[in-house]
Amino acid sequence: MKIIKAKDYQDMSRKAANIISAQIIMKSDCVLGLATGSTPIGTYKQLIEWYDKGDLDFGDVTTVNLDEYKGLPRENDQSYYYFMHNNLFDYVNINPERTHLPNGMEPDSEKECSRYEALIQSLGGVDLQLLGLGHNGHIGFNEPEEAFETVTHCVDLQQRTIEANKRFFDSIDDVPKQAYTMGIKTIMMAKKILIVVSGEDKAEIVKKAFFGPVTPQVPASILQMHPDVTLVADEAALSKCNI
Ligand code: F6R
Repeated sequence: MKIIKAKDYQDMSRKAANIISAQIIMKSDCVLGLATGSTPIGTYKQLIEWYDKGDLDFGDVTTVNLDEYKGLPRENDQSYYYFMHNNLFDYVNINPERTHLPNGMEPDSEKECSRYEALIQSLGGVDLQLLGLGHNGHIGFNEPEEAFETVTHCVDLQQRTIEANKRFFDSIDDVPKQAYTMGIKTIMMAKKILIVVSGEDKAEIVKKAFFGPVTPQVPASILQMHPDVTLVADEAALSKCNI
């Protein structure tokens, strides 16, 4: 694993955007795996800036997102579809038909998960997968488990997550209780993985995930087994690692 130490969030975002932009330049019709959450927002902003300058062309790029809430319409501002449009897709020349997320409105989980998994395979797999890291080591919606989850599947959100999300909704009944997510195997099949982490609150989990034992109790620890992973983290996130 390559570890790139950034000064702060902005520096992390620029370094991560550089890696994504190199991927697009090297293979203009690449398949990018994308993530939501707060960490990649700065990376997306930087990519938009370079696009505006004429340095980056998304015309032939295809994207597949890691996850989506089940039962949440695209128009809901908490959907990951909405997030991606609001933070990247609407500001670059990407073809909307080449942007893919699990369809949260498909009630048949088995059908949707196999459709999404087959879609990724039909695209020839993911060239570069961008990931964020949860405080408990989750990647996508793959939470700590007894065993590593395999391909795209439907997860029941933990009560903690439902409680934490309720501030974004009118009532607890509106908070999604399930989500579709790429599985650990889907993520591990990406040719390259780029994981971005920022902040002191992630320092403990960074140490556990990348320097501790590989265990499904820390889902991101499996990335130690991937042949081409780059961790771009700021000094605060790396403060508990001896590097
Ligand atoms: C988002 C995702 C999540 C986040 C993780 C970190 O698509 O799959 O695993 O990457 O929860 O979130 P932030 O960046 O908000 O700390």
